[in-house]
Amino acid sequence: MTAQRLDGKAVAAELRQEIKQETEVLTQKGVRPGLGVILVGDDPASRSYVSAKERACEEAGILSREIKMPASSTKEEILAKVAALNAAEDIHGILVQLPLPDSSIEEEVLQTILPEKDVDGFHPVNVGRMMLGLPAYLPCTPHGILHLLKRSGIEVKGKHVVVVGRSNIVGRPLANLLSQKSDLGNATVTVCHTGTPDIGAFTREADVVVAAVGRPEVITADMVKEGAVIVDVGVNRVEDASRPRGFRLVGDCEYGPMLEKVSAITPVPGGVGPMTITMLLYNTLESARRTLG
Ligand code: GUN
Repeated sequence: MTAQRLDGKAVAAELRQEIKQETEVLTQKGVRPGLGVILVGDDPASRSYVSAKERACEEAGILSREIKMPASSTKEEILAKVAALNAAEDIHGILVQLPLPDSSIEEEVLQTILPEKDVDGFHPVNVGRMMLGLPAYLPCTPHGILHLLKRSGIEVKGKHVVVVGRSNIVGRPLANLLSQKSDLGNATVTVCHTGTPDIGAFTREADVVVAAVGRPEVITADMVKEGAVIVDVGVNRVEDASRPRGFRLVGDCEYGPMLEKVSAITPVPGGVGPMTITMLLYNTLESARRTLG
């Protein structure tokens, strides 16, 4: 068996075309969607994510305003920038790139973003609404994964999905969305994490494995069953002197050996990543649309 490649880049391009058209319509009505991005410090991976988000905004016709702050910025300085974006009429979505250099202030910073501009879906109001199945901004990576599976013709309803990782950004919200009685959910979900003694015992039983661990190739081919669907959320930089940038990107899964065993798999890069950015555009468009009532 050679696995179906779940081409996030292609699905994202389709969705972005739709978003671009709707952005044009809205802009003609006098509301150009706008995203404000706060980047604190100069972590190379964060810089590269933020550039990709800005490029995607530009291509879709969405205004993007970047606020770069030094790593030494105080909590008060960051909160002041969030407050300014909360008040800005031309900004409909706000994103504070994580991790912040001082991770102890992340919760307070995220909670300062107005829930109606929280296009990352990280504010407790949006998290709570999502949990209850009420309309909310859904976090971009989980939401992107649901759309990628749907548009690739993979139904999760009735399947056993094992999510490896319980982060607030990916694992936990994804497990919640997958288990909801909804068009994109209705799966039976198991969450594995660092407290799970034998993760392979669970992943080997899974119809769908979602790896959101953040460590290179820790989910090996012998940990998944024949014909499973693999969603690899990991984007890990591995040193590689043969590459111009000195590193290559690998996922949390052993991609090559899995190709012959599983029925479908997301590549890294080009799988989940482009979908995450697309859902950010989607939420920003939605927020701008809401201002029209
Ligand atoms: N860092 C890693 N993923 C994300 C994300 O989806 N949003 C933000 N704001 N920061 C991140």
